[in-house]
Amino acid sequence: MGFWTARQERALDEREVDALWWAWRQACEGAGLCTRVDTVTGPTVTVPRLVDVVLGPPVVLTVQLLPGQLLGDLRRVALRIAPHLGAVALRVTALGQIHARIELLGADPLDGTVGLPLPAAPGRVLLGRDETARDLVQSWADDVAHTIVQGVTRSGKSVFTYGLLSQLAADPLVTLCGSDPTGLLWRPFAGIRHAAWQVSGVDDLAAHEALLLALVEDMDARISSMPADRDTVEITPAQPLRVVLEELARSTGSPTPRRRPRTRSASASAP
Ligand SMILES: Nc1ncnc2c1ncn2[C@@H]1O[C@H](COP(=O)(O)OP(=O)(O)OP(=O)(O)O)[C@@H](O)[C@H]1O
Ligand SMILES: [Mg+2]
Repeated sequence: MGFWTARQERALDEREVDALWWAWRQACEGAGLCTRVDTVTGPTVTVPRLVDVVLGPPVVLTVQLLPGQLLGDLRRVALRIAPHLGAVALRVTALGQIHARIELLGADPLDGTVGLPLPAAPGRVLLGRDETARDLVQSWADDVAHTIVQGVTRSGKSVFTYGLLSQLAADPLVTLCGSDPTGLLWRPFAGIRHAAWQVSGVDDLAAHEALLLALVEDMDARISSMPADRDTVEITPAQPLRVVLEELARSTGSPTPRRRPRTRSASASAP
């Protein structure tokens, strides 16, 4: 009995692998991930060779890229290929120089809400999750100079910025600075270390100017104390990254776009 069951299961697995092999071939051809050579007997189509299949779950394919192909070529057409392999998306990673590991994702990783783990690791923030379920993590201390958050009305700019701010707020390597005429943004920061670098509302316009001048003075002091063999500031808790938020509001067709003075520190825009 056990022997026959095992044989049946093996036959089913073989049929599944055959179906995947055929679907891979057809999908690659349809998506243009192939080379086509015209011969006297008709066109010959070559697709990346399927060298291994693990039925899982999850189903994982190993393929050998064609000469001249890059992993990026495969990633670009992954969403065209996925449904033909019975998947919602493909997670493609490099395996050595010319092979790729392709994991078939059965569920859409962007379907649903992703929790924000707090506090974030110092110097790093979670920006979001990509369509292959990988976290997009950014190192603020090393990589970022300027960031712009842009999008149409109600596209999620504010919510994204709140997520960013809530991660940065607890980071000892960061001071959150900025002037917010609406008087709304800095309310949760009252009484904490960032508040000294924040101005709210329009009651005291001189306070906004004083803040911007203080930021420029701080930047100049950092530049003048920089060792001769460096062109960047070392970010430490004693000398934290100054993240400056500014809003660049612009509506289509407006003859005089509203624009507040720029500073030379890192900035994010959050309409
Ligand atoms: N990642 C997200 N997932 C699901 N819903 C979201 C997400 N981000 C924002 N939203 C929702 O979408 C709506 C618009 O978000 P938000 O206010 O951030 O947009 P906005 O781009 O700042 O809009 P405006 O241009 O009007 O300022 C809100 O109801 C918000 O809860
Ligand atoms: Mg908004």
